[in-house]
Amino acid sequence: MTTQIGKLVEKDKAHLWHHITQHANFKNNDPLIITEGKGMRVWDINGKEYLDALSGGVWSVNVGYGEKRIVDAVSEQIMKMCYFSGTVGTIPSVELAESIVKKMDGLSRVYLSPSGSEANEKAFKMVRQRAALKFDGQKYKILYRDRDYHGTTITALSAGGQEERKMQYGPYTPGFVEFEHCCCYRCPFDKKYGSCSIECAKTVEETILREGPENVGGVIIEPITAGGGIIAPVKEYMPMVREICDKYDVWLIIDEVVCGLGRTGKWFGYQHYGIIPDIVTTAKGLASSYAPLAATITTEEVFNEFVNDPSDLASYFRDISTYGGCAGSAAAGMANIKVIEDDNLVENSRIVGDYFLEQLKEKLGSHKNVGDIRGVGLFAGVELVVDRGTKEAMSEKTLAEIVGHCMKNGVIIGRTNRSLPKLNNTLTFCPALIATKADIDQIVKSTMEGMAAVLGE
Ligand SMILES: Cc1ncc(COP(=O)(O)O)c(C=O)c1O
Repeated sequence: MTTQIGKLVEKDKAHLWHHITQHANFKNNDPLIITEGKGMRVWDINGKEYLDALSGGVWSVNVGYGEKRIVDAVSEQIMKMCYFSGTVGTIPSVELAESIVKKMDGLSRVYLSPSGSEANEKAFKMVRQRAALKFDGQKYKILYRDRDYHGTTITALSAGGQEERKMQYGPYTPGFVEFEHCCCYRCPFDKKYGSCSIECAKTVEETILREGPENVGGVIIEPITAGGGIIAPVKEYMPMVREICDKYDVWLIIDEVVCGLGRTGKWFGYQHYGIIPDIVTTAKGLASSYAPLAATITTEEVFNEFVNDPSDLASYFRDISTYGGCAGSAAAGMANIKVIEDDNLVENSRIVGDYFLEQLKEKLGSHKNVGDIRGVGLFAGVELVVDRGTKEAMSEKTLAEIVGHCMKNGVIIGRTNRSLPKLNNTLTFCPALIATKADIDQIVKSTMEGMAAVLGE
């Protein structure tokens, strides 16, 4: 057995290129190999158990591991009909499309693809093609927000507000323009909520005017910034951005790749703010990562921009992704939504999420190195600082030590990493929507112990 494990580790070291990982670190350490998962827990190749507070490392296994209802649905579907290109419907893709839009007032069309980056690329292509069809190529610019992330492909990176994810991969796609973030703790306008005029929303209008409204066709934002530090905008923000987009005929694209499907205690993050976007993208939790699945969801108005005289051969949405047609992925999405509904997981995310935030504030709030604690639903962040007065950010290395300590003690928590220059200082938490209060207690306790071990009480 031990030799088998050793051989697998050697093969991993010899051939597998791990994502976003410096392989030189494996000279003295073995890579982690995960072999099993059930509910909130996973086991590694040595049989060590972990409570996973990150839903698969990147916030995506929303219903937890080993969910038989999804496995059975996928297995039945791929036996019966595994694949046909997205140029046609399949029973699960049709059912899934209806099932998704039933959760979203005002949106009605679903375009399937295999990843969040691609779902965003589709949205960008829709903006660009509308510009070509309707505005003589003008209105092609897309605005994005500092600290947000929209994916890993070159154009998705071009729309990314995380400098460290972008650096060394340029030149970027032209036509993407950044505006300021909306994190109150580090307000870019040096204001305080309560006495400010929501400058962070107004900056969207200023940026449109600076670039020329005739040139701007889209604004993309995360409803709650994820990898940029778990940042929920204040309640006034989204309605103001919606109004600005309406005023200048700009499509508002909401990236729900992380926040979709119950993560924040509502089906979609934007639903906390009472707005209707023009386009919503979602991925990770859509099939809880039992299969690769993403969606670009639009209003009928957006869709209709691409319904034109068939004799004009260039006027429909000329996009295709092979794996957007995987019937097993659509079946996984359908079954996943049913599990979330049947087990009331959106409600659980809200209730247990409230408890989580309360516990984090109660148990960690007075620690000398805690600058800010933020979160919505089962999605939370603890920003660590060297000094509460100056707000100097704790180093990425120190956060890695805290995360490593928790890992050693069998709890997987996360941290913002290699995203924002000198601001990778937020511990992140994103447990599956099935989390119980007992799971939360264990996560909070482990974090407290990790912080105490690395930073002192
Ligand atoms: C908000 C957001 N959008 C898009 C993406 C890209 O998704 P994918 O990795 O599936 O391409 C991510 C990935 O983490 C994300 O956090």
